[in-house]
Amino acid sequence: MSRKLSELLQETAAFIQGKGVGEIDFGMILGSGLGELADEIENPIVIPYEEIPNFPVSTVVGHAGQLVYGTLSGKKVLAMQGRFHYYEGHSMKTVTFPVRVMNALGAHSMIVTNAAGGCNTSFTAGNLMLIQDHINFTGDNPLMGENEEDLGPRFPDMSEAYDKAYGKVVREVATELKIMLQQGVYMGFSGPTYETPAEVKMARILGADAVGMSTVPEVIVARHMGMRVLGISCITNLAAGMQANLNHDEVVETTERVKEEFKSLVKLSLEKL
Ligand code: 6GU
Repeated sequence: MSRKLSELLQETAAFIQGKGVGEIDFGMILGSGLGELADEIENPIVIPYEEIPNFPVSTVVGHAGQLVYGTLSGKKVLAMQGRFHYYEGHSMKTVTFPVRVMNALGAHSMIVTNAAGGCNTSFTAGNLMLIQDHINFTGDNPLMGENEEDLGPRFPDMSEAYDKAYGKVVREVATELKIMLQQGVYMGFSGPTYETPAEVKMARILGADAVGMSTVPEVIVARHMGMRVLGISCITNLAAGMQANLNHDEVVETTERVKEEFKSLVKLSLEKL
């Protein structure tokens, strides 16, 4: 990107507003198999990514690749049905561009979701996990390079990347809905390989409860701009060395199995945020 980020943002935001998108409370990023939640947005305005200026094109199957704007649980939301991943070869600035756009459109908060592997030995496939903190193990950072001061500070504080008050609401909602909700630390890897058993052991020793290939860049950028963040992982499988061989089909199968729980947890939480 040779043009200034703020300039690209203005262009993209203006295009999206031109499609009828108005005020936004929450930006939402719906991970693998979790995109169905966007189908419940009322009076939706749907914008395919390929129409949006300065958006990259997603390459992963099982991701719809569109923005959905409307009302969910009484809140104005802009949801990404499908996200961009670092392992697709996009730079971290590209991966996180939609988060910048959400904020430019007025979103003060972001709800980010993903499919992740459990490395905490007390987790089982199908658990949902409230993300309390993360470890950036990608070897990269979306804020590398010149800082645009109008977007956020050079050295952002990450002491409370995941909003504690939001987390409390979600835990209370999980109890109310009798949904099993784990909580823990998400460790972000670049992918696209799943981890080796030795890497999973390392992740656990370093304090991770779940491992995945997304979320960390988006949360860094959201916090750079001062957005409040809520993160939820769907533990689709246990990580390498803790179960039989991993494959993406299992990830899809598990999200399919727990998506109703996931949707009701997010919807009722959103109502109370
Ligand atoms: Cl085991 N690892 C990573 N990095 N991402 C995942 C996963 C594992 N399971 C689902 N997504």
